Parts: sequence; C-alpha cells; structure tokens
Amino acid sequence: MTINIKTPDEIEKMRTVGAMAAEQLEMIEEYIKPGVTTGELDRICHNYTLDVQKAIPAPLNYRGFPKSICTSVNHVVCHGIPNDEKVLKNGDIVNIDVTLIKDEYHGDTSKTFIVGKGSVLAERLTAAAKECMYRGIRQVKPGARLGDIGHVIQTYAEKNRYSVVKEYCGHGIGKIFHDEPQVLHYGKRGTGAELKAGMTFTIEPMINAGKAAVKLLPDDWTVVTKDHKLTAQWEHTILVTETGYEIFTHRSDDTIERIT
Ligand code: MF3
Ligand code: CO
Ligand code: CO
Repeated sequence: MTINIKTPDEIEKMRTVGAMAAEQLEMIEEYIKPGVTTGELDRICHNYTLDVQKAIPAPLNYRGFPKSICTSVNHVVCHGIPNDEKVLKNGDIVNIDVTLIKDEYHGDTSKTFIVGKGSVLAERLTAAAKECMYRGIRQVKPGARLGDIGHVIQTYAEKNRYSVVKEYCGHGIGKIFHDEPQVLHYGKRGTGAELKAGMTFTIEPMINAGKAAVKLLPDDWTVVTKDHKLTAQWEHTILVTETGYEIFTHRSDDTIERIT
C-alpha cells in the first residue's frame, strides 16, 4: 500500500477546495427546513458550485451517480440520491455530503442537520456521531496509526450503545476522490498504516442507533440500515501536519480546533 504525500503546492490547493466545500455546507443550512425537497437542496448546491464557486460537483456522474450532492435522510446511511419527491419534515435528520473539485483537487465534507426540532434520539445520535469524528481527528499526528483513529471512534460509539457501519470508510483524497488508504471507523490501537506529515484523507464515521448491518437498495447507491433505525454521519478532509492535523473543511460551527 502506498499512501502519497502531498507537496506544499498540492496542500495549498486542497486547503482552497476544502474551504469551499465547508462554505457550501454553511450556505445550504438556511434552506434545510420542513417542506423543502432533497432535489431542491441539490439544485441550490449545484448552482452555487458552478455559478458562485466556479468549481465542479464531484459526485455528478461519478461512477454513474446522477446528482451533485448526497442527501441521506433518517435511516439512510449514505449516498442518498436527491429527488423532487422527498420532502423533509419536522424532526427528520439529513446528512448533506458535498464534494467539490477545484484546480483538480477534491474537498469532501458532510454534516447531519436536524430539520426543525429533533427527537431526543435524533439529537443524541447526531451529537455522538460528530463526537466520534472529532475523537478520530484528534488522533491524527505523525507516528500515529490508522487503527488509533478507528479504535477511538468505535469505543465512543459503543460506549453510547450505538454501532459503527463497517462496509464504508474514510479514504485518501487529492486528485483522486477515493484513494488509498481506507480509513476504517473501527479497529485496534497500534495497528494499520503509520501516519506521516503530508498525507490527506477523510474521516467520516456512520453511526447507527441500532445494529451495524446495512443494505444497498436496488438503485445501487442508497445505503440503509437493515433494521431501519436512525443513522448519522459527519465528515471532514484532514491533513497530517508535522505537529498534528489541519482540517481543510473546517466550518465556523465546528467545535474542534482547525489546526494543532
Ligand atoms: N462524498 C462521499 C464520500 O464521502 C462519496 C459520494 S460518491 C457519490 O466519500 F457518487 F455517491 F456521490
Ligand atoms: Co468521503
Ligand atoms: Co463525502
């Protein structure tokens, strides 16, 4: 397995596209309210990407994906396809996953929003999934191992009696959308590849309220929990620095340091 190390010039491009992906999640927030369709959210993001950001929505036509963002509602784990029939209602949770390409480099980030007022479970699960991502990010520094990231995520999820999706993982990112390494959201401390300054990858845990099992719908994209219980995900694109990490997709609502 070869994990490529980015040059300073590549890092600067990833910082730029990461900030744009983050800004897009900030932009879309005001539109996420009862009555909006996921198709409408997709159109707003698509147009903003092209017209304002002068960037490319990476999901569109990626391996045949038909839309510009992923919208995953309630029991949808990931890769939900926006459409004009899916109306968001009060209490839903929706993960919006944005990936942009600018100057050939990718920035990939997602956040689970609560539509209107959420149930106690929706609030707790969403907060726990975010904390899982943060705990994973805090492991990132040269000399740490990928297994350290997975271990803290799994430990926190299971401590809260939630479960970690095993079939989908974080990934190296750069000119290539999904590159090596695979960043598992479970595992053992001290195992897996050693992190080195200049590596860039995502951390994007999918945390289920019920069992870990998932299934793929016949559209070949939409992943749902087998037990149809709630699931939440958060994602950031991260750089390993000499001293720790930098979050390329950091937003103003993040409650973790952008850089250490
Ligand atoms: N953004 C997703 C990820 O975090 C991948 C979406 S691929 C798509 O890796 F084709 F479904 F858009
Ligand atoms: Co990703
Ligand atoms: Co993503």
